[in-house]
Amino acid sequence: MAGSGSGAAGIAGCAPAAGAQNPRSIAEVVRMVNTLEKPLELPCFLAHLAGPLQMTAALSTVSAQPAFTRSSPRIFVFLDPLVFTVVPEGPGRYLLEFGERRGDARSLKAEIVFPVTGELAPEAPFEHIVFNEQFSTCAFCHDAETRAPDVPFARAFESLALRPPDEALVSLDELRSEVQLCDAGSDPYRCAMLHALFGREAVVEREFPETYGAL
Ligand code: HEC
Repeated sequence: MAGSGSGAAGIAGCAPAAGAQNPRSIAEVVRMVNTLEKPLELPCFLAHLAGPLQMTAALSTVSAQPAFTRSSPRIFVFLDPLVFTVVPEGPGRYLLEFGERRGDARSLKAEIVFPVTGELAPEAPFEHIVFNEQFSTCAFCHDAETRAPDVPFARAFESLALRPPDEALVSLDELRSEVQLCDAGSDPYRCAMLHALFGREAVVEREFPETYGAL
């Protein structure tokens, strides 16, 4: 039945381990992914995150994860200093996009494509976004890109961090009602994504750092 109380625990086998600490960097996400059973789907990874999550949701018309409808916005999850983003549907729905905060207005960029079927190398999320020796694919929109000197084991890039414009925001209350309406029979992937994020004791609305820019 539509969304009948099946929370994150409803995604079979995908729940936080007792006493689990959430990852706070791209490197820690890689370590966590490597401890989980494969093949690992993105909703299952999300359901493994512990406790209340701080999030922002927004329509995103120009990004690596376009989201055009209020019922399936782009969702930004804050695990400070890490921010990761997902979309419940559309071409970006199998991507976990990262921005690990660097200072006031920049972030280290990376990406993992799901499902993950084997061990992830530490450099994999960085190498996946390489466009050429000089740039990542993110540089088309995230300006002022440089190599990240603190990630010597990969071709890693950092660049300006961006935030959604205020008029694009979708409140978590509005999105929560979508989670309840979601019909897992006709929309299994989208429902699994939303349940994995909202099927927990609390989700907390979070404001973007004001120092992050707009496109
Ligand atoms: C077509 C333009 C575009 C491209 C290419 C793009 N982004 Fe973004 N990105 C945006 C916009 C615009 C925002 C602001 C939020 C929104 O509107 O979705 C953003 C915000 C973000 C954020 C939130 C905070 C932060 O640290 O910037 C992350 C994380 C992110 N993008 C990751 C990536 C990664 C990783 C890549 C490369 C694989 C990438 N983006 C490529 C346009 C783009």
